[in-house]
Amino acid sequence: MEQVRLTTRDYSLFYGEFRALNKISLSIPANRITAFIGPSGCGKSTLLRSFNRMNELIPGVRTEGTVLLDEGDIFREDVVNLRKRVGMVFQRPNPFPKSIYDNVTYGPRVHGMRNRSKLAAIAEESLTRAALWDEVKDQLHKSAMALSGGQQQRLCIARAIAVSPEVILMDEPASALDPVATIKIEELMNSLKEKYTIVIVTHNMQQAARVSDFTAFLLTDENRAGNMVEFGPTNRIFTSPSDRRTEDYITGRFG
Ligand SMILES: Nc1ncnc2c1ncn2[C@@H]1O[C@H](COP(=O)(O)OP(=O)(O)O)[C@@H](O)[C@H]1O
Ligand SMILES: [Mg+2]
Repeated sequence: MEQVRLTTRDYSLFYGEFRALNKISLSIPANRITAFIGPSGCGKSTLLRSFNRMNELIPGVRTEGTVLLDEGDIFREDVVNLRKRVGMVFQRPNPFPKSIYDNVTYGPRVHGMRNRSKLAAIAEESLTRAALWDEVKDQLHKSAMALSGGQQQRLCIARAIAVSPEVILMDEPASALDPVATIKIEELMNSLKEKYTIVIVTHNMQQAARVSDFTAFLLTDENRAGNMVEFGPTNRIFTSPSDRRTEDYITGRFG
């Protein structure tokens, strides 16, 4: 049995009257990469954003059901602390218009750390884990905006790592990058799972098959609500899905 990091039970999310997620029940294993796949609009990003309560920033959002991090109810947790435990990386690299060093030490400083040598050690460790240190160690005070897109995305991963999260959420983290930068991000994810639980959204099924250990397939029903059709080990989902709709999707019959 896998250790479970994140759990949803009968979890639904409404944007106003519209039910975007319909009673999703799912257990995401710790120290593995889980991919959410499915056609555009099926609720992948909404489900991902649920795990650090990012959807709450959107007016009119309401939820039902349970979401647990480890054994704890995320809705009872202090949201600042929750977002420290559950970091997020977005589709477009979004470094702050500040130096590389200021970007990667931003989180620890917000959380009150002032000790310069500790901050420097966190910067080095986070950039090393994000496979960026060797490329930037001599230019830490250069603007992050001068980095390539792929480097900026690895910097955003380093920034997420710097506050020691348990989970890193990634919403199509490579979709704005070229193929070489994409492979680097995929290799990086693979090295990160030793220490973190990773959940990614991808519309690229080859990517899901390459990088993830587990896959959840989501699909909208007749009311446009996102349902989870199937969840399991990635190789099983891709080689012998148990639901016909999963098979149709992964063989490219729709979506
Ligand atoms: N801020 C929002 N307000 C209202 N509806 C939204 C909002 N964000 C997403 N939706 C709707 O929720 C559904 C799921 O969207 P999303 O989670 O972005 O899907 P995916 O990431 O799978 O493409 C879609 O029908 C989308 O139009
Ligand atoms: Mg999306």
